[in-house]
Formats: sequence, C-alpha cells, structure tokens
Amino acid sequence: KKIEEQIEKATAQTKDELEDFRIGVVGRKGIIADLFSQMKTVAPEERKTFGQTVNALKNAAQDKFQELQDALESLQATDINHQDLTLPNIPNEMGSVHPITKVREEISRIFERIGFNISEGPEIEDDWHNFSALNFPPNHPAREMQDTFFIEKNPDIALRTHTSSVQVRVMENAKPPFRTLSPGRVYRNETISARAHCIFHQIEGLYVDKNVSFKDLKDTLYYFAKEFFGPNSQIRLRPSYFPFTEPSAELDVSCSVCGGKGCNICKYSGWVEIGGCGMVDPNVLKASGIDAEEYTGFAFGMGIERMTMLKYKINDLRLFTENDLRFLRQFEGL
Ligand code: PHE
Repeated sequence: KKIEEQIEKATAQTKDELEDFRIGVVGRKGIIADLFSQMKTVAPEERKTFGQTVNALKNAAQDKFQELQDALESLQATDINHQDLTLPNIPNEMGSVHPITKVREEISRIFERIGFNISEGPEIEDDWHNFSALNFPPNHPAREMQDTFFIEKNPDIALRTHTSSVQVRVMENAKPPFRTLSPGRVYRNETISARAHCIFHQIEGLYVDKNVSFKDLKDTLYYFAKEFFGPNSQIRLRPSYFPFTEPSAELDVSCSVCGGKGCNICKYSGWVEIGGCGMVDPNVLKASGIDAEEYTGFAFGMGIERMTMLKYKINDLRLFTENDLRFLRQFEGL
C-alpha cells in the first residue's frame, strides 16, 4: 500500500529528480527489484498473491516513470528556464555575396569616386537601343559580331547583347554632361565553355561633355586598372572596330595572375583583354538627340566575369553559374 502511494505521488521537476525515481523505484537496485528478491522469504501459499501485487506495482512504476519523463520533456520544450543552454545551436546557414556581385560593387565604387553615377536598362531590348541607335546599319555584318537571342521570332525584340544599349537610354532621357556606369547581365548565343557563356555581365561607362578627349579615356581606364588590379597594373589599347565608337580600341590589362610574366590565363603574353572602348561616334550622339558639334564623349564596356577571374585566379567561367557551394563559400567574408 505504502509503496503504491509513493509511486502515485512521485513527481519530477528536473532530470535529476527523474533519475532519482528511476534508480530508487524501477532500477535494478530499486524498491521493485528489492520486493522481487523478497519473494523467496514469503510463505509458499502467499507467493501467488505477493507475486501478483509486486507485478502490478512494477507496471504502475514503469507507467509512472514514462509519464514523468514525458511531462518533463514537454515542460523543457516550452519553458525557457528548463532548456539546456549548453546544447549546440541548430546551425544557421548564412549566404554570402556572389563574387560577380562583389566585383560589380567594387568597380562601381571605383568609378563613383571620380563622379560616375549608376544607370540601368532592360535586359529585353528592342533593335533600336541594342543596334540601330548605336550605328549598326540594318543587315550590316557588324550585327553578326554578337550572336543575338531574338524573342518569339520578332526580329525587333532581343535579349541585349551588350550594356551599350543603356548608353542610348541615358542619352535619350537627359541632357549632357553624362558620367554614368551601367552594370548588367547580357546574353549571346555562344557555346558554353571555360571561357565563354551565353549569359555574362558587362559594365559600361559613358562620359559625354564638352571637350572630352581620347586622353581622358586613357586616363580614366588607367586610374581604374590601378585601383582595381593594384598599383603596378598597366593598360594597353589596341586599335579595333565597333560601329558606335570612332576611334575604337580593345582594352588589355597586364596579367594580374602572373604579374605579366606569362601564365595559362594570359596565354603567356602577359596581357589580358578585359573590354572594348573608344570615342562615341557622332552618329550615336545624333541618334539620341545630342548636338555632336558641341559635345564629344568616350565609352567603354568591360566583362565582369573576366575581371573577377583575373582578380581571384579563377580558371573556369562556368563556376559562376553552377552555384556549387564549395566554390561560393570561398568568397565568404571577402
Ligand atoms: N559593347 C561592346 C561589346 O560588347 C564593348 C564596347 C563598349 C566597346 C563601349 C566600345 C565602347 O563588345
């Protein structure tokens, strides 16, 4: 009777109390085990009833233990005071800034320091902004320099092939002077490889004012290369052709991976091409309603992937779009 009462009244507010109950009552050396061991001292005719009683007590004790354990667990789950604060936390998965985003921001900051603002345009463009206003005549072979994705067989709508389309939108919508930087995603129908992708990023620069000269373009690009790739960087301009600039040039920087000595990235030449540039063609100014007698300008367009690869010694462009966490985690905290 007494033991029955003791079991019934038992409480456990803490894990220790629960453990005391387990050891003292249901455990191998507990009261129940003790009662079983007394069995042999009981008179044979009473053994049956004694056994039944002890068995009932054993079941009651085990039920009670389960009940106390469940109660304690739900108490701990709801009551902050009973939570085990020493348990390790559930890991909180933190994302990190994508290397392309990081480099885009870094480039923007460098140009903002010399007075450039940021402008944006749509990724789905019309022929006018991507080609015609940029002095690509209809059916001119220069359009084939850029393998264009057209939308729904409508030759007027395409995914922009370069950020130069944003130049046109800026010039159409405001009055010079302009000093603007346009970062964004561009699309070309190219076979995906370690060096090319159908989706990539460019950053466009446009400077239009009175008396802007080719020297201003060179100074600006030189300043940028030193800021971005380090004070020992060099730039090189090679004559080239774009319909929207005259004269036009390809922009090379000294290879920041091998320091210009020759490596796989620069193909042992010491130089890597990062974009194109030139003086805005007067036809482009006119197409956007700007007086080409009064204003001159320069423009440049650079590949963000290429610059990120050079800066962080990445040898495969596909890594940027695969979202492999082993790659992305290396940029945590940078
Ligand atoms: N839009 C050109 C390209 O994508 C780059 C460029 C921009 C060249 C501005 C000159 C001036 O290849």
